[in-house]
Amino acid sequence: MSGSAANAPGAGQIPGVRANPLRTPQDRRLPRIAGPSGLVIFGVTGDLSRKKLMPAVYDLANRGLLPPGFSLVGFARRDWAHEDFAQVVHDSVMEHARTPFREEVWEQLAEGMRFVPGTFDDDVAFDTLRTTIEELDKERGTGGNFAFYLSVPPKFFPTVVRQLKKHGLSEGQGDSWRRAVIEKPFGHDLASAQELNAVVHDVFAPHEVFRIDHYLGKETVQNIMALRFANTLFEPLWNRSYVDHVQITMAEDIGIGGRAGYYDGIGSARDVIQNHLLQLLALTAMEEPSGFDAESLVAEKLKVLSAVRLPQDLGRHTVRGQYTGGWQGGQKVAGYLEEDGIDPKSVTDTYAAIKLEIDNRRWAGVPFYLRTGKRLGRRVTEIAVVFQRAPYSPFDATDTQELRNNALVIRVQPDEGVTIRFGSKVPGTQMEIRDVTMDFAYGESFTESSPEAYERLILDVLLGDANLFPRHQEVERSWEILDPVEEFWAAHGRPEPYPAGTWGPQAADDMLALDGRSWRRP
Ligand code: BG6
Repeated sequence: MSGSAANAPGAGQIPGVRANPLRTPQDRRLPRIAGPSGLVIFGVTGDLSRKKLMPAVYDLANRGLLPPGFSLVGFARRDWAHEDFAQVVHDSVMEHARTPFREEVWEQLAEGMRFVPGTFDDDVAFDTLRTTIEELDKERGTGGNFAFYLSVPPKFFPTVVRQLKKHGLSEGQGDSWRRAVIEKPFGHDLASAQELNAVVHDVFAPHEVFRIDHYLGKETVQNIMALRFANTLFEPLWNRSYVDHVQITMAEDIGIGGRAGYYDGIGSARDVIQNHLLQLLALTAMEEPSGFDAESLVAEKLKVLSAVRLPQDLGRHTVRGQYTGGWQGGQKVAGYLEEDGIDPKSVTDTYAAIKLEIDNRRWAGVPFYLRTGKRLGRRVTEIAVVFQRAPYSPFDATDTQELRNNALVIRVQPDEGVTIRFGSKVPGTQMEIRDVTMDFAYGESFTESSPEAYERLILDVLLGDANLFPRHQEVERSWEILDPVEEFWAAHGRPEPYPAGTWGPQAADDMLALDGRSWRRP
């Protein structure tokens, strides 16, 4: 083949851009529809199942992305008939689904709903589960393809996966597949994560295990890769020569709600820094992967996570806080220690801020500041890449005194989009330069609303597409990063109090002030 023919753009290819000849051509615009399959949810009575999983299954069905015989099996310690389970799903769909309710979609889905009552150590219940699946295969053509979603506290993971193995549920026959879906937390430190991974991998092969980090299912998080690697504009600046520092913020206005049992003793850093925020850091800082398949992505994320370094002085460069009572949204709210089910002496962090460095050629000397908290000023997740000042300014200091550093802000949620901040001359007779912004908002550029993260992730599980799921090496590396911080905190006093509705403890501002910087007020 002549060189020019080899480089001719194919359908859907960008003219002038060479395709990777090693990549299998694939028309990604074809709808991705799950083949014959079913989903079994353990812990089906829990919050996550009612608020996220059940509505996501309905939304997928409504969008025509599930096969007609798709089946949903609930497993829990309840004395429910199949119809009772279907009613619970119905209620959750009515309350939480993203797409409109359509009777015909619901009826088809409801025909494939089954409920298996039992506890996780109940052998009879797991035999019933196996029979139920076999019947669904015959009645609805699920083809023996089932994913088991463990929406249960991690202490039950070992029991459930061992039961699946013992009752012949973990392996498909012939061409059929079985997959395990695990919700975080994947352990509470490196050692427990390793134990957990060993138990799960004893039963399921690595490619059959899907660890959910729902942030990776968010459109705006996937867009980090599009922004960086589909454009020429940003990547040349994306390094230590131009970037001053990066701030990754995940702020929530809610408290811990009814989750005392899960949250107390875990705290904000284990809850979201170990997973969501370190994944955001990895996507922001990694090198361009050689392809968008799971292997290439994991390789790059792991490489950059391996280069992450904690500062020497954890006392000065990490902060933890705990909210006290205050006012939020015009309402008086309780402090963490007064919340139902919380030990009044608890030292659990509800706010955490950590400075990290990345030891590689691209990022050496550029701090990444991560922060998260409950009961903060408002709900916002964003990645702010803050650039250095112009190396030389032909303007007088008075002209530019209101000018801050250029910044590119990826707004993960809400108001999904990207903002660029830069200086512009204020109209008038003087040379006065002030910050202005250029804004891309999803709502204005695209007509379709973004799917919920769980829709995307459940569909990917059914398709066997592992791109958006962290591998066990990433999980373990993330614990390796966080463990010394948790150990340091455990040995040093209490979290610093901050009133609900504020932006966290004073120490967090001091931490950045030490470096001559300040947090953005999103
Ligand atoms: C979960 C945490 O992973 O993410 C919760 O366990 C947190 O504590 C939640 O509230 C936030 O998710 P989202 O999608 O609303 O940002």
